[in-house]
Amino acid sequence: MQNIGEYVVQHRDRFIKELVELLKIPSVSADPAFSQDVMDTAQAVARSLEQAGCTAVEICETQGYPIVYGERKVSADLPTVLVYGHYDVQPPDPIDLWDSPPFEPVIKATELHPEGAIFARGACDDKGQFYMHVKALEFMVKTDQLPCNVKFMIEGEEEVGSRSLAAFVEENQEKLSNDIILISDTGMIAKEAPSITTGLRGLSYVEVEVTGPNRDLHSGLYGGAVANPINILAKMIASLHDENNHITIPGFYDEVIELSQEERAEMAKAPFELEAYKDELDIEAVYGEKGYTTNERNSIRPTLDVNGIWGGYIGEGAKTVIASKAYAKISMRLVPNQDWEEITTLFSTHFKNIAPEGVKVKVTPHHGGQGYVTPIDYVGYRAAAKAYETTFGKTPIPQRTGGSIPIISLFEKELGSKTILMGFGLDTDAIHSPNEHFGVWNYLKGIETIPYFYSNFTEMSKQ
Ligand code: BES
Ligand code: MN
Ligand code: MN
Repeated sequence: MQNIGEYVVQHRDRFIKELVELLKIPSVSADPAFSQDVMDTAQAVARSLEQAGCTAVEICETQGYPIVYGERKVSADLPTVLVYGHYDVQPPDPIDLWDSPPFEPVIKATELHPEGAIFARGACDDKGQFYMHVKALEFMVKTDQLPCNVKFMIEGEEEVGSRSLAAFVEENQEKLSNDIILISDTGMIAKEAPSITTGLRGLSYVEVEVTGPNRDLHSGLYGGAVANPINILAKMIASLHDENNHITIPGFYDEVIELSQEERAEMAKAPFELEAYKDELDIEAVYGEKGYTTNERNSIRPTLDVNGIWGGYIGEGAKTVIASKAYAKISMRLVPNQDWEEITTLFSTHFKNIAPEGVKVKVTPHHGGQGYVTPIDYVGYRAAAKAYETTFGKTPIPQRTGGSIPIISLFEKELGSKTILMGFGLDTDAIHSPNEHFGVWNYLKGIETIPYFYSNFTEMSKQ
């Protein structure tokens, strides 16, 4: 019977070409100008699932963008793997910083990807990564080696907070029932240091508005005599961290679970070069919470970051004015056990408390979600680790990471199943940034590794 390694070599060019076609459709969920393209992408995903051997492929309408569903049943006695991914992408802005147009994929070699990487918005996050699963299924079906049942659920609103997915999952528990959820929407440490993501951070995203006088004022006539909302907002934001870069919101750390020294020592074994990290970002020094390493700061510790700030005059030349309003968008990355709704309330209360007299403050929560951890003694983790051992020749390193996929905790709550995060991207693949790319080697390695997960999981579940 044919081996997946050979199959990948044989079908390499077609695998790349199919992904390139999918990347050409600009499925930007945040911008209504692209709504037709998002819908077209759902159609393309549905066709690809059919071609790979899914039956019962459906484009499930929601209040927002559709969820593409497909399944292939082998036997009711065998376990079921549910693959989740997202076909929507982040906006490509700022467009001028792309070396090639974001929706005209090109393959170019880079230092970390000498075999070439596909440059396009969504290449790594998440079209390239969920498509690995479609191709892995194709292999298992075409060569008659699918060892268990499989379901696919690919959504189109992940980058805007999975607005419709929660209701879909609640209403379709039977249809989505499974033994394990499999997701490729994260990264790994390096090609020579494969890793499996065992933890993700939660998120609370808020927007704040500070209003001073009821209209914009001449900064000479009124300057010095009324609160300038931009000055005030800057001060309020600055006060949210202390001199050790701890967050000052009362109660913010109450539910944080501190890792033991053993766990921290284990984490510190993962390969990491601080100098290379700084060089790659062109910074002289790293920055963050006192008492923690860079890899701890960006994974097991909560954070608060301003994502955007605006107000007043930002056009050409100068205009002497005190704006009536100032705004900021703020994200807080949370660690498992911090409740995002609770944190949103703590933030909101604190931010209003620190506002001086003379301004009004409004806090609008956007979206959020809980963090997640997978235990490494779980059968799904062991099945995945063994798959990496086969294709990389190395035991993968368990890695907590800083990004968020908030819907995973809801999957656990509603469907009662754990998630395994088999990500094949690199942190330097520029997801959400200009020149996003996905290594051809990583793409093919993913396709090669996934079928071993299926056979290991099916085998290990019997025991
Ligand atoms: N795939 C990312 C999350 C990710 C990337 C996790 C790399 C770990 C490593 C996902 O598409 C994403 O961007 N999530 C958002 C949250 C969402 C609610 C908008 C995020 O993390 O900002
Ligand atoms: Mn993603
Ligand atoms: Mn993303």
